[in-house]
Amino acid sequence: MGKGGHSGGQSRARVRVILCTTVAFVALQCLSRSAGHGWMMKACSERASERAASGRRASVVVTDVDGTLMNSTHQLPAANYKALRHCMRLGVPVILATGKHRGPWFRQLLDQVTDDQVQASSNWTLNAPGVFVQGLRVCDSAGQVVSTTLLPARVFDACARLAKQEGWTLLAYTDSDQIISNQMSPLISSINALGEPPVQLGSVDDGVGIHKLLFLGDPSMEEAVRGEVAAAIGAEASLTVAIPGMVEVLPRGICKADGVRQALQMLDVAPCDVLALGDGENDLEMLGEIRHSGGIAAAVQNARPILKEVAEYTVASCDEAGWAQAVERWVLGMPDGSLLGDASDLTDSAVSPREK
Ligand SMILES: *[C@@H]1O[C@H](CO)[C@@H](O)[C@H](O)[C@H]1NC(C)=O
Ligand SMILES: *[C@@H]1O[C@H](CO)[C@@H](O)[C@H](O)[C@H]1NC(C)=O
Repeated sequence: MGKGGHSGGQSRARVRVILCTTVAFVALQCLSRSAGHGWMMKACSERASERAASGRRASVVVTDVDGTLMNSTHQLPAANYKALRHCMRLGVPVILATGKHRGPWFRQLLDQVTDDQVQASSNWTLNAPGVFVQGLRVCDSAGQVVSTTLLPARVFDACARLAKQEGWTLLAYTDSDQIISNQMSPLISSINALGEPPVQLGSVDDGVGIHKLLFLGDPSMEEAVRGEVAAAIGAEASLTVAIPGMVEVLPRGICKADGVRQALQMLDVAPCDVLALGDGENDLEMLGEIRHSGGIAAAVQNARPILKEVAEYTVASCDEAGWAQAVERWVLGMPDGSLLGDASDLTDSAVSPREK
């Protein structure tokens, strides 16, 4: 589903160089953090030769939520519902790795996919650990928070000053499960549509821990906001984007991949046994690490172009249940389209693998 040929080869090449530099930089940050964590050390459950012979398979799913598991209206497509229930019934761990806070959305998902036959292991996870707020809060299978990471106070101060000066809306995600906004904005409704704890107006009290900040803007503002925020915070924090236009400020070098690494360690699973799925820039490191450790990384068709380059495969979009397509093929071992009704083809990523 290419965009078709258009001019501007030079500027495209330039964008590509910038994107590649960005990816290399984040990858380096993540790698430097992961050194010594044994990420690549654990042996795969199958040898490469066996896997090649039997077709590639994964025993654990690591997935982004909005735009990947959920469709563009934040609902669970019927085929994804079936595939998720299959996983839970078979005991296949499904690790949710999201930029969102734990909140009402999660209870709604549980209400949908669980019943007497298919039970979740806790009120905050499906049947595996959970990775929330971009990896800044990780909980075990029982829903107990096992790690939290906070933003330095001076990063918050710098961002709050910038927001005030520019008249921008800034949301603070606190460690007490709240989302606090500095001002009213019509865009707040788009955040509330995600089913997180409802956004409250107010100021952040001294001593309140903050996981991340989010500048609320539309996609046309993204680059400008990003540039100014980067200048204001210097090297003290990292920026990412999960939803176009919403620039997020995270503790430096932390990403979903860090939380996923912890979750896999808790399950004693090697990354080469994982199928990782995502759509956003905030899924880059996660998919990159899983792919480079020998696991399967798939982007949905609606993913950012840069993510499709990092992923090995591109599956159907979130509105066409690409999630179920991937899980059927690589985890449940079903023929393509078993849960979909109509079979749509899996396409290999447009970009050929970089390494041999
Ligand atoms: C999202 O999934 C729900 C549930 O299957 C469906 O009713 C809705 O139409 C879907 N939205 C889109 C945009 O595909
Ligand atoms: C889940 O939440 C419900 C309602 O709040 C509570 O009654 C139940 O004990 C909780 N279950 C677990 C496993 O924590």
